[in-house]
Amino acid sequence: MRAKILSTGSYLPSRILTNHDLEKMVDTSDEWITQRTGIKVRHIVQDEVTSDLAYKASKDALESAGVGPEEVDLIIVATVTPDKPLPATALFVQEKLGAVNAFGFDINAACSGFMYALSIADSYIRTGAVKKALVIGAEVLSKITDWEDRSTCVIFGDGAACVLLTATDRDDEGILSITLHSDGRYTDLMEVPAPGSRIPCSDDAIRSKQIYIKMKGNETFKMAVRHLVDVSEEVLSRHGLGFEDVKLMISHQANKRIIESVAKRAGLSEDNVIITIDRHANTAAASIPLALDWANKNGKISKGDLLLLNSFGASLTWSAGIIKW
Ligand code: ACO
Repeated sequence: MRAKILSTGSYLPSRILTNHDLEKMVDTSDEWITQRTGIKVRHIVQDEVTSDLAYKASKDALESAGVGPEEVDLIIVATVTPDKPLPATALFVQEKLGAVNAFGFDINAACSGFMYALSIADSYIRTGAVKKALVIGAEVLSKITDWEDRSTCVIFGDGAACVLLTATDRDDEGILSITLHSDGRYTDLMEVPAPGSRIPCSDDAIRSKQIYIKMKGNETFKMAVRHLVDVSEEVLSRHGLGFEDVKLMISHQANKRIIESVAKRAGLSEDNVIITIDRHANTAAASIPLALDWANKNGKISKGDLLLLNSFGASLTWSAGIIKW
């Protein structure tokens, strides 16, 4: 028994912030953002919260599979921007969907969050404890972005996407393997220092901007390409496969240059790689399922294709998974 993807879903808030809009807010340029990151626009919420985005993405996936919310056994929301510290955002999604027979929880592995959640749901399905699971990546990063810091505010966007998993006993389809890694020596490379038990909520935490994302982007960049290539080789080799067997690589969309460097080292052509960072920006845990949903809905995936998913995120987490569609 293993898990296979029955359907995908996504939701992006309607408000779009362009690079030219950002030129009016901080000392930056469309040229710098495009060349250094590949980003052109990002979606930003107005009055929606993370569970609203996650709910709409889930509804999309359930409707396209013709599955009712009461059939869902498990809901996992991967996010670094939950509705509230307590309770889990998954429970707000459960309530909005009416998924009365499910249990749910959140996980935080930053930009690798979706892959971690996918691995957990796959494990539940392999044991037989769960038959149908919604695995959601959802972020409202605009609320933890310092809109005066040009080194971070140009990078992030809001959005949500998900996969609906179901159990299959066929061995020619589904999630073949996922491998997860983390390294706690680098927790200072990217963080949101407060509020938490180290720095609780206070006027000082807000004044000193501890509530916003801090990132050492350049140092993170240097490690990303090597880790993404290595972890992808690791998961492929488990099944006697190589990059030449991959039909489509769907990477966390942190930086177009990172994805292109990985593709080059892997010998993958443009046609084998999905790029959505230009229109979604970096949506952390939502970025891989958003790219997957886009590929699925735009006819880029056929039955039997081997998909390679890989992620790299704060601080540090990285992962790869292979799926036979
Ligand atoms: N506009 C114009 N100039 C800028 C901007 C901006 N928005 N931001 C920074 N600069 C300047 C810097 O001040 C610096 O100027 P200086 O040379 O005069 O000092 C110069 O541009 C170069 O800055 P770098 O930080 O070295 O630029 P880099 O080429 O590394 O690009 C970026 C920065 C885009 C952040 C890149 O490092 C990156 O993508 N890193 C990886 C991020 C990542 O993968 N994070 C983990 C996943 S995210 C998650 O987990 C939620």
